[in-house]
Amino acid sequence: MECSWKTVLLLVCASLGVQYTAIRTLRDSLSGPCQGVYRCQTRHHRDSRWRALCDDSWMPIESPRKHILLFATTRSGSSFTGQLLNQHPGIFYVFEPLYHVQQAFTNSSSRLRRTLDRRALLGAYRDLLLNLYTCDLHFMENYIRPEPQDHVTSSFFRRSSSHALCSPPVCLEGGDAAASESPDETWCPKKCGALNLTLASMSCLSRGHVAIKTVRVPEVGDLRTLTEDPRLDLKIIHLVRDPRAILASRIMAFSDQFRAWKIWNATGRQPRYVDLSQITSTCKDMVASAETGLQRPAWLRGRYLLVRYEDLAFNPKDKATEIYRFVGLEMEDRVQMWIAKNTNSNASSPSEWNYRYSTTRDSRATAESWRLRLGFDIVRTVQNLCNDTLALLGYKQVHSAAELRNLSHSLVEHRTFQPVPW
Ligand SMILES: *[C@@H]1O[C@H](CO)[C@@H](O)[C@H](O)[C@H]1NC(C)=O
Ligand SMILES: *[C@@H]1O[C@H](CO)[C@@H](O)[C@H](O)[C@H]1NC(C)=O
Ligand SMILES: *[C@@H]1O[C@H](CO)[C@@H](O)[C@H](O)[C@H]1NC(C)=O
Ligand SMILES: *[C@@H]1O[C@H](CO)[C@@H](O)[C@H](O)[C@H]1NC(C)=O
Ligand SMILES: *[C@@H]1O[C@H](CO)[C@@H](O)[C@H](O)[C@H]1NC(C)=O
Ligand SMILES: *[C@@H]1O[C@H](CO)[C@@H](O)[C@H](O)[C@H]1NC(C)=O
Repeated sequence: MECSWKTVLLLVCASLGVQYTAIRTLRDSLSGPCQGVYRCQTRHHRDSRWRALCDDSWMPIESPRKHILLFATTRSGSSFTGQLLNQHPGIFYVFEPLYHVQQAFTNSSSRLRRTLDRRALLGAYRDLLLNLYTCDLHFMENYIRPEPQDHVTSSFFRRSSSHALCSPPVCLEGGDAAASESPDETWCPKKCGALNLTLASMSCLSRGHVAIKTVRVPEVGDLRTLTEDPRLDLKIIHLVRDPRAILASRIMAFSDQFRAWKIWNATGRQPRYVDLSQITSTCKDMVASAETGLQRPAWLRGRYLLVRYEDLAFNPKDKATEIYRFVGLEMEDRVQMWIAKNTNSNASSPSEWNYRYSTTRDSRATAESWRLRLGFDIVRTVQNLCNDTLALLGYKQVHSAAELRNLSHSLVEHRTFQPVPW
């Protein structure tokens, strides 16, 4: 035994106790409940940098490893919410790793695509999440295109969004820049060069916790096997947003894909070829997940928090505190500073929103600006398609253009979804 963290290993494994025994067989195929720790012992023990990590920087963690999933949908404010986690120095944050899985699958040959069903894709998603939660960044190599050479890649999706992937030990240059608040998407690769996935795994191990943001898993039920996996302590933050706002944001951000909607918005007349299916399934998935979560099934006990983006936008400090309480971590100073800097706590409405690299190109994107940007006809259509979602999540319908544009009339009902004793 070369590593001096033997005691840690013993403690961790002993505390897993029964579970450990129960999943021994699983372990053989998946390499174990203390995977991160075993790793020091096996695959990399001859690598001096790994040994250094095991000897010196393997600090006792403030609490057992948390595995946080920011479970969201496109344009629901997940980049902003993800930053609340990314800013925590003990969290290894990854922004949408499932992008690579989807790319690899959709770009594969048509023969493979035909044999591929939804279950297989979801299985691949879960597989990658599990491996990332246990800090095996090499597992990404199965999906990243072009294929990484010597565990090094220049194609890691949105790497700049992850503090850990742009600061030491992954990037020795990145210390200060990573802390500055307005990096664009290219600064990190420019400054840090290609990403060494071995170093990324080390960085992951040296931080206590892992948080992953994804918009690619349709329903919370698709995550059930992960919540039941004894190797993980999964905490799911389900981020929802008013579907009318989501649609407005998508129209702005993906104008090619949403050209028909733009025409509709500009002319007030619905083109025949407008595609209603995407927003419809967004609403269906959102309501299905929220219903599942709010029914409090045993497998989600203590693992599910429903967060409305509007509540976070109106009251970032309190909501962030609630999120941190839920995941069981301290809200570090850096998180608080980030909130103070990027939200205007003085503002009575989120129109003062000041989040620079927010998702949209419109830097003043606000939680309610959609009400000035979307024709009433479109709003009414979405309300019909998504009426159940609006009702469940506490978003009021409007019945006239005047009501829609009247910003002193709030469309967000006061709701508390959480947490009565489970
Ligand atoms: C997808 O396939 C095309 C054609 O084979 C190729 O040129 C392209 O680089 C591939 N893209 C990815 C992300 O693999
Ligand atoms: C990546 O980092 C590991 C660990 O420090 C190192 O051994 C390896 O040589 C690096 N790979 C490349 C291609 O630089
Ligand atoms: C806060 O808002 C009030 C009212 O809009 C304004 O008078 C005051 O200057 C603001 N304070 C800061 C620090 O922005
Ligand atoms: C819809 O049209 C209005 C003008 O009628 C415009 O101000 C707004 O930006 C448009 N919204 C979108 C999402 O394109
Ligand atoms: C939503 O609309 C459908 C069909 O019009 C209706 O059956 C359902 O009761 C409505 N739901 C709510 C919550 O109003
Ligand atoms: C706007 O909404 C507020 C609050 O509901 C209401 O008091 C006011 O009369 C409305 N204004 C107009 C012009 O309808």
